[in-house]
Amino acid sequence: MSTQRESIHGQWSNRWVFVLAATGSAVGLGNIWKFPYITGENGGGAFVLVYLMCIAAIGIPIMMAEVLLGRRGRQSPINTMHELAVEEGRSIRWSLLGWSGVVAGFLILSYYSVIAGWALAYVYDASSGAFRGLPAEEVKNLFSAMVANPGALIFWHSLFMLMTMLVVARGVRRGLEAAVRFLMPALFVLLLVMVGYAINTGAFSQGLAFLFTPDFSKITPEGVLIAMGHAFFTLSLGMGAIMIYGSYMPKQASIAKTSIIVAMADTVVALLAGMAIFPIVFANGLEPGAGPGLIFQTLPIAFGQMPGGSFFGTVFFVLLVFAAWSSAISLIEPAVAWLVENRGWSRNKASLLCGLATWLMGLGTVFSFNLWSSYTLWGKTFFDLLDFLTSNIMLPLGGLFIAIFAAWVMKPSSTADELALAQEGIAYKAWWFLVRFITPLAVTIVFLNAIGLL
Ligand code: TRP
Repeated sequence: MSTQRESIHGQWSNRWVFVLAATGSAVGLGNIWKFPYITGENGGGAFVLVYLMCIAAIGIPIMMAEVLLGRRGRQSPINTMHELAVEEGRSIRWSLLGWSGVVAGFLILSYYSVIAGWALAYVYDASSGAFRGLPAEEVKNLFSAMVANPGALIFWHSLFMLMTMLVVARGVRRGLEAAVRFLMPALFVLLLVMVGYAINTGAFSQGLAFLFTPDFSKITPEGVLIAMGHAFFTLSLGMGAIMIYGSYMPKQASIAKTSIIVAMADTVVALLAGMAIFPIVFANGLEPGAGPGLIFQTLPIAFGQMPGGSFFGTVFFVLLVFAAWSSAISLIEPAVAWLVENRGWSRNKASLLCGLATWLMGLGTVFSFNLWSSYTLWGKTFFDLLDFLTSNIMLPLGGLFIAIFAAWVMKPSSTADELALAQEGIAYKAWWFLVRFITPLAVTIVFLNAIGLL
């Protein structure tokens, strides 16, 4: 049985637009800001290896599951889950999965926007030549001074939220297709330039060794949890973002191929970012575990020294902002689509309301770097807690339930039909086995291990 639903929000013009949009969602601060700093905090190579294994064994199969659910339901994740549960004769409580995704997206965007605001501030700094000839110590001070100033952070956070709501209000297609088409390749080229610079720092091999030589004594159960959480985060999985992008996907496009392309592009960008940053870290005697400020304390050193550094620095942070922008819209799209579907609101109204709420929540993250920096729980600030709760708990749990729904609730005939794979073929069997057994098991083991039960 093949379903004939259509999305009321429109469809991507062709499968490449889906690939671009999904890559735009996947490639973002997660690759360039977060991957290097959590790799630095968790000891390097072994962490990277666990992360790569999670991408391959958990990330890609779940991405396929999410896209297929979205394309079959053709609605916001909440309504898609409702509809598919009815279709499969199951409880409509499955729509709770959509709801938890909406909450996760809102929480993630609230801090994502604050960090994207840092990138905006650095566009300004780079273009005004603030990095020129700056020694490592002063680059660090520049960052510390920025995060110590709540007014500045609120300003840039507000600007980024405004940009995001503007695109979301215009609709995903008209809003972002063009930007993603040119800016993603540009970001890729600029990362290559940065790696080129890193090769000449004198510490390139040390950087590579840190990234790619696994030392398993350095990894903890919590580190494994963070690596798995990041696989979800970086591929935008577990909260319905990829599901809703799938709901705009044309029926003929191959879900398996497009998912693999998106995951590979995302991984390459993260590894390039790591290869650009760690040589600078070691060449300047910096601390790999410096935390969320890592790229903001390393890359400006390079921009301050290389010829044309102000230009390259400006372009780099502009592209980083665009990468964050195309990710941010996918975090809020499920909520906006639901308000349009169920409340009959205009996209403008829905975007405005969601944006305001997210902006307000973001103030918590702003203050966690200054006024509230001494308020911690389990050694974590408000921002740390928010990041931990969403990336390492909500997304993997969301992914777990998506896997259970796709491989235990839905009939193989339904999923094989949507994936356009032969039910008896090796490709379908491999996917089904991974989603039915490996993914749920892996997520459960990592959870139990992290809370010390294994
Ligand atoms: N993947 C994006 C990044 O790496 C962030 C992101 C966008 C995201 N949409 C998401 C994370 C949905 C989790 C869920 O920067």
